[in-house]
Amino acid sequence: MVVVGASGGGPRPWLVFCLSPLLLGLATGCSRPPQWPVPYRRFDHRPPADPYCQARYTFCPTGSSIPVMNDKDVFEVYRMQAPVWEFKYGDLLGRLRVMHDAVGFKSSLTGKNYTMEWYEMFQLGNCTFPHLRPDVPAPFWCNQGAACFYEGIDDAHWKENGSLVLVATVSGAMFNQMAKWVDYDNRTGIYYETWVVKESPEEQARVWFEAYECSKFVLRLYQQLADMGAVFKKIQTNYTTLTVFSGEPTCLGNETSIFGPRGDKTLALAIRDFYSLFTPHHSVKEFLRNFWRIVNEVILKRHFYLFYNMEYWFLPVKFPFVKIAYEEIPLPSSKARRLNPPSQRTSADTTRL
Ligand SMILES: *[C@@H]1O[C@H](CO)[C@@H](O)[C@H](O)[C@H]1NC(C)=O
Ligand SMILES: *[C@@H]1O[C@H](CO)[C@@H](O)[C@H](O)[C@H]1NC(C)=O
Ligand SMILES: *[C@@H]1O[C@H](CO)[C@@H](O)[C@H](O)[C@H]1NC(C)=O
Ligand SMILES: *[C@@H]1O[C@H](CO)[C@@H](O)[C@H](O)[C@H]1NC(C)=O
Ligand SMILES: *[C@@H]1O[C@H](CO)[C@@H](O)[C@H](O)[C@H]1NC(C)=O
Ligand SMILES: *[C@@H]1O[C@H](CO)[C@@H](O)[C@H](O)[C@H]1NC(C)=O
Repeated sequence: MVVVGASGGGPRPWLVFCLSPLLLGLATGCSRPPQWPVPYRRFDHRPPADPYCQARYTFCPTGSSIPVMNDKDVFEVYRMQAPVWEFKYGDLLGRLRVMHDAVGFKSSLTGKNYTMEWYEMFQLGNCTFPHLRPDVPAPFWCNQGAACFYEGIDDAHWKENGSLVLVATVSGAMFNQMAKWVDYDNRTGIYYETWVVKESPEEQARVWFEAYECSKFVLRLYQQLADMGAVFKKIQTNYTTLTVFSGEPTCLGNETSIFGPRGDKTLALAIRDFYSLFTPHHSVKEFLRNFWRIVNEVILKRHFYLFYNMEYWFLPVKFPFVKIAYEEIPLPSSKARRLNPPSQRTSADTTRL
């Protein structure tokens, strides 16, 4: 099992010895060379989700493909945000600022409006931790996320404990071009990634991994529209991020190289043991026992295993370990405004939501 010492002092010599092939990116089953942040992997098509993965809440129940709109139409574009699991817990996660992001469109020709969002097909828990199946050696992931488009905007849902704000106006032609991009994005970006992994809470800290979740889709979509010439309003837009803090990660391998017949049995067991701490609990007693085991593994031993781009990584996690933040990511600036240095865009011209 890989053990890495506390931050600051650097790895001890014997650790350097046993980790060095990994640090050089030589672990089998890892793409290389390591590059930070690790680029999110795109695929050429989306495979069907495994039948083992059964959604408790149907993914995108009223969804449809995006219709072709009249090029001459004019669409209002809305930023929409609501607490995660509002239908279940009301504003509880909203108070922790754990928000879900979506985009709304309203046609001025037909008056119809539409919601576009990207989210987990099998909910957040399934995207963050795998299932351990007795008959399958490797941890089993139900971690696909996808875009969902449907007619209608549920104003109350977004407004009451979140926000529904007009951010731009675009032409029907731009909408149609955006639809093509959504189709591409939805076919090639398949797996949800919950965590941002950073070296420290400092702003300039190195980012090892970027998340890939609902807000990243919204940000990519806004950028597509801006690149086509859409002009966004100047308002403050904050998004939720879940961050894990860690020293330099080590790629361990992929499913085959770790859990396959020629895999590393010790590492395979360590990874399964780690994920066993995060399986759903059936009783308070079980939860408490696992809670202390999690503290021991993550906080005291500083171990964390991350599955990213279908590869397993070891994270030598460090204080403050995990953070939920609700931080500003500005709306894209139009080409003209991009010429101004960022310092000229002071907080004076942003409005609180
Ligand atoms: C794992 O990595 C090996 C070696 O790089 C590669 O041949 C194999 O296809 C990969 N397996 C998966 C499931 O990605
Ligand atoms: C998570 O995945 C398991 C296994 O397929 C499934 O039984 C469960 O319903 C999923 N959870 C949610 C909330 O969809
Ligand atoms: C907003 O939060 C309150 C308090 O938790 C809850 O009662 C209400 O149902 C939430 N609104 C919506 C639209 O879910
Ligand atoms: C995105 O892909 C999923 C899975 O194939 C599909 O259900 C969904 O309708 C697609 N979304 C859009 C907007 O086309
Ligand atoms: C969307 O359309 C519905 C139904 O006509 C309407 O109730 C709602 O107010 C509209 N919302 C927006 C933001 O246009
Ligand atoms: C939004 O983000 C900014 C900067 O990241 C922060 O100062 C501000 O407090 C955040 N707003 C809320 C409501 O959390």
